[in-house]
Amino acid sequence: MSALLPIVIEPVRPEDLPAVLEIERASHVDPWRESFFVEELERPHALMLVAHHRTDRRRIVGYICVWLVADEVQIFNLAVDPALRRRGIGRRLLLAALQHACQRNARVALLEVRRSNYAAQQLYLSLGFRPCGVRPNYYDGLREPAVLMELEMDRIWRSRWFNGENAKGSEEGSC
Ligand SMILES: CC(C)(COP(=O)(O)OP(=O)(O)OC[C@H]1O[C@@H](n2cnc3c(N)ncnc32)[C@H](O)[C@@H]1OP(=O)(O)O)[C@@H](O)C(=O)NCCC(=O)NCCS
Repeated sequence: MSALLPIVIEPVRPEDLPAVLEIERASHVDPWRESFFVEELERPHALMLVAHHRTDRRRIVGYICVWLVADEVQIFNLAVDPALRRRGIGRRLLLAALQHACQRNARVALLEVRRSNYAAQQLYLSLGFRPCGVRPNYYDGLREPAVLMELEMDRIWRSRWFNGENAKGSEEGSC
């Protein structure tokens, strides 16, 4: 991995959406339209965080969208500027969202990931997610299966990732 990029993680603002859309289109085979993000901004149970360069609030480098439902957090979207990958942004975004969810009493995190998406699966595995099922032909167009992954954020896991040495650099902003 290259050196960690100095970032701040904060809740998204409407003016961040053009930069978010640019990263979205560069990151996904079937990118979300702008209206999807606008809906996320309005949903009471949705949380969307952006990472921006520490010295420039307008320089968005990644984002994450999750839903907080009962004691679960569902991860729906995560992407990092292709030019800035492997600099710890994806992991810090994910940890920031999971920490926020834990503060709201979430104890289980769930997500779906394309079977061919090795990079994302490695990220999730590195944080303790485990595969827990497959949905055949989940993604339209490519008819690719989704791998379901689950993480139990028990006391030991929370202490490891939010209080221990792994917490260093996990979140540098306020959310
Ligand atoms: C998946 C994604 C968000 C990762 O973001 P990132 O900022 O590059 O990830 P990080 O630098 O935080 O990497 C954390 C860990 O994830 C794993 N990882 C990330 N990218 C990897 C890759 N290309 N190959 C192997 N492992 C990878 C590694 O374990 C890495 O730790 P290390 O660098 O110390 O080895 C990014 O690749 C991306 O935006 N992909 C396109 C969108 C996407 O697939 N989103 C997920 C949809 S489910």
